[in-house]
Amino acid sequence: MGAKVRLARPSDKVPLMSFIRDVWGGHDYVPRVWDRWLRDPRRTMFVVELDGTPVGMNRVKFLEDGSAWFEGARVHPDHRREGLATLMGEYSTKEAARRGASVFRLTSGSRNRIAHMQIAKIKFEEASRFSIYEPPEGRVAEGGSALRVKPGEAEAALRLMEGTSEFKLGGGVFWHEFTAASLSPEVVGRLVASGEVWRNGRAVAVRRVGGEGSGVWEQVCFIGGPPDEALELVGGLPGRRKKTTARWVFVPKGSPIITALRKEGFTRHFSLVLFERKPVNG
Ligand SMILES: CC(C)(COP(=O)(O)OP(=O)(O)OC[C@H]1O[C@@H](n2cnc3c(N)ncnc32)[C@H](O)[C@@H]1OP(=O)(O)O)[C@@H](O)C(=O)NCCC(=O)NCCS
Repeated sequence: MGAKVRLARPSDKVPLMSFIRDVWGGHDYVPRVWDRWLRDPRRTMFVVELDGTPVGMNRVKFLEDGSAWFEGARVHPDHRREGLATLMGEYSTKEAARRGASVFRLTSGSRNRIAHMQIAKIKFEEASRFSIYEPPEGRVAEGGSALRVKPGEAEAALRLMEGTSEFKLGGGVFWHEFTAASLSPEVVGRLVASGEVWRNGRAVAVRRVGGEGSGVWEQVCFIGGPPDEALELVGGLPGRRKKTTARWVFVPKGSPIITALRKEGFTRHFSLVLFERKPVNG
């Protein structure tokens, strides 16, 4: 059969959703975001068809740090293990390189071993692992201390971040809505300008509000520094909005902040593996 990768179009929705609605016991997020992804003016959603029938998809998002973020790889159960995800992955890496991406990244749940094996086929390598912690009873610990970093302090904030073990363990990224981007000087400058960088002593955090559909997520997208100061910082961040549906703290594997959070009653929501690939010759 002839497999072909092409840009997604509106008529792909019905055949793709006919199997995607059952992925992960019906909890897949792709049906909720498909229309938005299709409307993206950068035209970044791809479909693989077999003899004219759409049987798989994926998407590339271009992030503010110059990276390309790969997401939403799905293949019809009847056509798995036929190399289709790998075909789409290769197509997308070429497309992302052609559009100037400096690095390609993607994430996968830490237990999705099938996906990890397929990801290895398209030459992505594990860069880091993160766990997402939730405060006890859905509440961020009360009290604590957090100072908003002022625009003139962006460089100092970046130096502070770079000096933390969490920056090194996590490969220098922060998370927003389950995508990871580099904490580059430009990105940190923008985060500081929008009032999203906070500190307490030698601890530093990025805090953002995001969401999907009706979900409103307060995310501590990066946290680094001595565990006691970091914990106080998490407790001192603004939050507890009425509409918020989830509060998450992203911490890289191996960070001592994890023990501090656990002592305060934080529990692990789930864990992610971050994979990276450099463009050819990179
Ligand atoms: C993950 C997924 C996209 C892979 O699609 P696919 O088209 O079957 O993948 P490919 O055929 O390109 O797989 C290539 C490699 O992945 C690995 N792989 C794929 N399916 C596997 C399976 N069932 N068991 C073991 N290894 C598997 C193998 O290494 C395989 O290479 P090989 O066939 O030469 O041994 C598909 O299984 C899927 O849609 N899963 C549900 C959604 C999901 O988990 N998406 C990924 C989120 S990060």
